Amino acid sequence: MSLKDKINLQKLPKHIAIIMDGNGRWAKGKGKFRIFGHQNGVKAVKESAEACAELGVSYLTLYAFSTENWSRPKDEINALMELLVSTIRKETSTLQKNNIRLKAIGDLMDLPPKCQRELQEAIEETKNNTRLTLILALSYSAKWDMVNAIKQIAEKAANHQLHPQEINDMLIDQHLSTKDYPHPELMIRTSGEQRISNFLLWELAYSELYFTPVLWPDFTREHLYEAIFDYQQRERRFGKTSEQVLKP
Ligand code: FPP
Repeated sequence: MSLKDKINLQKLPKHIAIIMDGNGRWAKGKGKFRIFGHQNGVKAVKESAEACAELGVSYLTLYAFSTENWSRPKDEINALMELLVSTIRKETSTLQKNNIRLKAIGDLMDLPPKCQRELQEAIEETKNNTRLTLILALSYSAKWDMVNAIKQIAEKAANHQLHPQEINDMLIDQHLSTKDYPHPELMIRTSGEQRISNFLLWELAYSELYFTPVLWPDFTREHLYEAIFDYQQRERRFGKTSEQVLKP
């Protein structure tokens, strides 16, 4: 029996965020170069997106390249960018077929022009799709996003477009690159590492965190079901007491 049958479709997270980790270790374990791990990670990206779409999860954010990843060896960065371009090019028709809308967050202007072009074309082509929004975090870090938001808010305050007293949670939300999406209820990280690594720091404030030792290229839809099932067993209290949450 698949764990899928145990999932309560009425209690699905609307938004799942994933730190896809362990590609390098997966490749090393097979005596291959790191890029071999990234190439094999694409299969897990596809499976996760398709499984989310089938279940009825509305948003999936994947941490594909962090601001900090720019300090990796040049060869690995180039190979990753090439992989992004070729994957987007190859898979846009699958996104269309599955009614999946592609979006991206991050400092996209830092990506190679070819990558920017390919991404923008796929975003444009899939913009009317409604089943799942797949958000790629590229050249992204939460601190980068928060610094940007603070700059915009400070500028508005300096220009008297808003009063500092008006700054609240909602206003900050509206100035982040994630402003169009609900906060993730569930964040998954593969490969056994138990860190947030500068990913959606603001948006994960009340997310359930799920860590699995599975390396990203080995991550299948069954692993995703397992994470969702685990999430559904948790009591989300948002600072309240258990009794308050359980009250009808
Ligand atoms: C982390 O593993 C993974 C990345 C930095 C890149 C993720 C990219 C992909 C899965 C490929 C393409 C993605 C899309 C969306 C088309 P790591 O290299 O840090 O692994 P390690 O910790 O074992 O070294």
